[in-house]
Amino acid sequence: MIAIAVDGPASSGKGTVARRVAQLLGYQYVDTGAMYRTVGLLCQRQGVDVRDPAAAAEVARHIDFAFAFRDGALVVYADGEDVSFAIRGEVVGAAASAVAVHPPVRSALLGLQRALGAAGRVVMDGRDIGTVVLPRSQLKVYLDASLDERARRRHAELPDRAYADVRAELAARDAQDMGRATAPLRAADDAIHLDSTRLTIDEVVNSVVRLARERGG
Ligand code: DC
Repeated sequence: MIAIAVDGPASSGKGTVARRVAQLLGYQYVDTGAMYRTVGLLCQRQGVDVRDPAAAAEVARHIDFAFAFRDGALVVYADGEDVSFAIRGEVVGAAASAVAVHPPVRSALLGLQRALGAAGRVVMDGRDIGTVVLPRSQLKVYLDASLDERARRRHAELPDRAYADVRAELAARDAQDMGRATAPLRAADDAIHLDSTRLTIDEVVNSVVRLARERGG
């Protein structure tokens, strides 16, 4: 009945790893970035400035969130709409990172995230899962990869964009997520560090599953 926290920077592979580990263990996969992305998306749709803490928090607090699981992975509904597709993409990702800086936005989402992790049997990924959301989780993984490798992966998904631009945007997002005052991206003191620069996804997944089994998962 353990909970597994997976944190790391953008394009480190944590979403893929978390999803596969959850499938192998028969756990639920909870992508907390999807919630920040939903707030970013609704700010954009409503013409709200993502840099305005009070306005962004107002949007976050008024979203009627509902959650479901499809193939074991979280699906987010906002005001009755399945936003799975609308929240993907670079522009919404940047908006998510911008709203995630604001403490009142984070506190609007924290209770929802903790509730989804409370029963265990969950793999939750994000930036502050091991440090803030589930600090008592039995297994914390910090998944990293070099900036060049992450930019290469992201660029492979976005071949029409210039590599240098993709790399610069990734670096800017890392800086924003690591540099904010509240719940910045960092490894928990008791996190296991894994680096996917030179490991395949399968190697990372197998390591995490082995660690989970050792800890009662
Ligand atoms: O994991 P992702 O790329 O979908 O996350 C989008 C943004 O949301 C990320 O740049 C920062 C923010 N985020 C956060 O601050 N805390 C989390 N637990 C998850 C995401």
